[in-house]
Amino acid sequence: MRILGIETSCDDTAAAVVEDGARVLSAERLSSAALQARFGGVVPEVAAREHAVAILPAVMAALETAELAPSDLDAVAVTQGPGLLGALLVGVSFAKALGVAQNLPVIGVHHLEAHLYANSLVAPIQFPALALIVSGGHTTLAYWRGHGDIQVLGETRDDAAGEALDKGARLLGLGYPGGPAVEQLAQTVHSTPTLRLPVARLGRDSLDFSFSGLKTATEEMVRQGTYDPADIAWALEEAVVIALVETLDRAWQRYSPPHVYLAGGVSANRRLREAVAAWAGSHEVTVHMPPPHWCTDNGAMVAAAGYFRYQQGHRMAFDDGPKTPWALQEVSPG
Ligand code: KG4
Ligand code: ZN
Repeated sequence: MRILGIETSCDDTAAAVVEDGARVLSAERLSSAALQARFGGVVPEVAAREHAVAILPAVMAALETAELAPSDLDAVAVTQGPGLLGALLVGVSFAKALGVAQNLPVIGVHHLEAHLYANSLVAPIQFPALALIVSGGHTTLAYWRGHGDIQVLGETRDDAAGEALDKGARLLGLGYPGGPAVEQLAQTVHSTPTLRLPVARLGRDSLDFSFSGLKTATEEMVRQGTYDPADIAWALEEAVVIALVETLDRAWQRYSPPHVYLAGGVSANRRLREAVAAWAGSHEVTVHMPPPHWCTDNGAMVAAAGYFRYQQGHRMAFDDGPKTPWALQEVSPG
């Protein structure tokens, strides 16, 4: 089954064709990040306008690379939420129009579930699993029992992990998006810095996260002017990684599933990947993470998630629109 996946929830206009939720036939991504960088972050109105310009070229390129005509498709999957409303509206409207024109079913996909399905592009998903989704808008820990069966265990109470890195990058005068910039600068440290930033711990029973204190701490370090920016970037990355791995470990001690899945833009981070892999080495668990290019927003993960939602009978009604906010918990029945 060939599904066209469309992603427009933030600043990437992405389209891809994926067969049976696993085999990528094509994947195109047009990003407005360079334009957004001028504003130091994503401006929703700018994102929506850029999607409107880029959506047709992105979809046409995805079909061309896959050597397919629209009539060769079996379905269209689109990120229905959560995300920026105007940005989502472009993708959802396009998907519905294509669905009507080609008589194709349209499947609305949850953005966080789509991130998890980036793992399905590597190997079939194995259940039960813990899922850690770390992006620019979300930090969510969930118990993943099966396709369409997910229970949220913890979330950030304030900023997302990626947001903390983006804000830190801004304070350090680095570009947008901040995560890769912080990672690059942190890699330039010569020896392990002694500088540490505070890791919020929300109590032994909590599986939630809190990253807003990092912004204040980074701000203070930058203001003092005595610290090497690379050391600050390293300490910021370190604090985010510790918070994520500690909470993941706490959840695993409680549920002990045989698999852990990592997903979302921040899971492209090398130190996080290494830390989670090292943690897994001392536990009876197999960790799965998508290759870095499938961690950040893309159309292939949307097409893969769409395939599994299609199997479960989900179809988008013609009068459905973007859903934001949309709790991940709601993708599970009951
Ligand atoms: O999943 P994503 O592409 O979009 C959202 O759904 O938010 O995630 C974007 C986030 C941004 O905060 C970006 O700074 C972060 O992922 N990010 C990284 C890396 N690449 C992207 N953070 C750390 N290290 C990276 N290599
Ligand atoms: Zn995302």
